[in-house]
Amino acid sequence: MDTLWREINGTGIGVYPIGLGAMPLSIAGRPEEAQAFEVIKAFVEAGGDFIDTANAYCLDDSDIGHNEQLIAKALERLGKRGSVTVATKGGLRRPKGEWTTDGRPGSLRASCEKSLRDLNTGAITLYQLHAVDPAVDLAESLAELMRLKEEGKILHIGLSNITPRQLEQALTMTPIASVQNRCNVLEQTDLRNGMVALCQAKGVAYIPHSPVGGHFRHVRFRDESMLTRLGEKYSASSYQIALAWFLHKGQHILPIPGASKPKSILDSLKSVEVRLAPEEIAALDRLG
Ligand SMILES: NC(=O)c1ccc[n+]([C@@H]2O[C@H](COP(=O)([O-])OP(=O)(O)OC[C@H]3O[C@@H](n4cnc5c(N)ncnc54)[C@H](OP(=O)(O)O)[C@@H]3O)[C@@H](O)[C@H]2O)c1
Repeated sequence: MDTLWREINGTGIGVYPIGLGAMPLSIAGRPEEAQAFEVIKAFVEAGGDFIDTANAYCLDDSDIGHNEQLIAKALERLGKRGSVTVATKGGLRRPKGEWTTDGRPGSLRASCEKSLRDLNTGAITLYQLHAVDPAVDLAESLAELMRLKEEGKILHIGLSNITPRQLEQALTMTPIASVQNRCNVLEQTDLRNGMVALCQAKGVAYIPHSPVGGHFRHVRFRDESMLTRLGEKYSASSYQIALAWFLHKGQHILPIPGASKPKSILDSLKSVEVRLAPEEIAALDRLG
């Protein structure tokens, strides 16, 4: 780790290396709004300045935009609107609380325009296609995002839940600022299939989601023996070790651990202080 700041590649935007994944603040089991506000407050007051959201972080289709509205309100109250980068996503629906894809151009446009209203902004800094809709060509969904960018509603385009091949295809059409895929020390597909390296080579930020195992499965990380052993050595939590491992994997990596409690995100932010030895990184590589 050379620096405490990382650029969202190609955007000129420098951020603290650990972002906040805001999903747990709005999906089923979400905390009271006052607690959600405390999470965002703790994060930004500790120096965090990158928040990941999506229109679909909500309970169901009647609640679309819950997370974006919450973040906008909290940042306004905290006087941090101008200093925190908010990345959002479109392309999913939540019928009866299920997660389904909808990458049709008209739907993406309507979602983006609602996100602009919910975030109370004139332009979304980073707008990510949440997932490729199997019923719609990626090129067709992407072309609509390119039009939204031309119109100034989006400043940068990102993609989520994609394959290296889809990234290569997208890059032939337009610059891609970021890829957001599931990756963590126990699930290293994107390190093995070349996606993380491809992003680095192409100047694309890699934003691992579920970086400590996922909102509903993170407790595995608390008990993983290699993580706890290294945690004891560095006086750090298992979560900090898992995040520090990521930070050592490249300057283009920007993990976004989720949190529904202030103490979780405050703990995660401190992972930047952990410097692992090369043989420890290699041992963690073998965990995946
Ligand atoms: N693009 C996609 O399809 C996609 C999919 C999933 C997630 N995401 C994004 O990625 C973000 C992160 O993923 P995630 O929230 O599913 O999973 P995660 O970050 O792997 O795990 C989040 C959970 O881990 C706990 N946690 C995190 N750091 C901790 C720490 N330092 N100490 C103790 N507990 C800690 C939190 O507990 P508490 O709740 O108790 O605070 C939280 O509920 C999401 O919030 C969302 O923004 C994107």
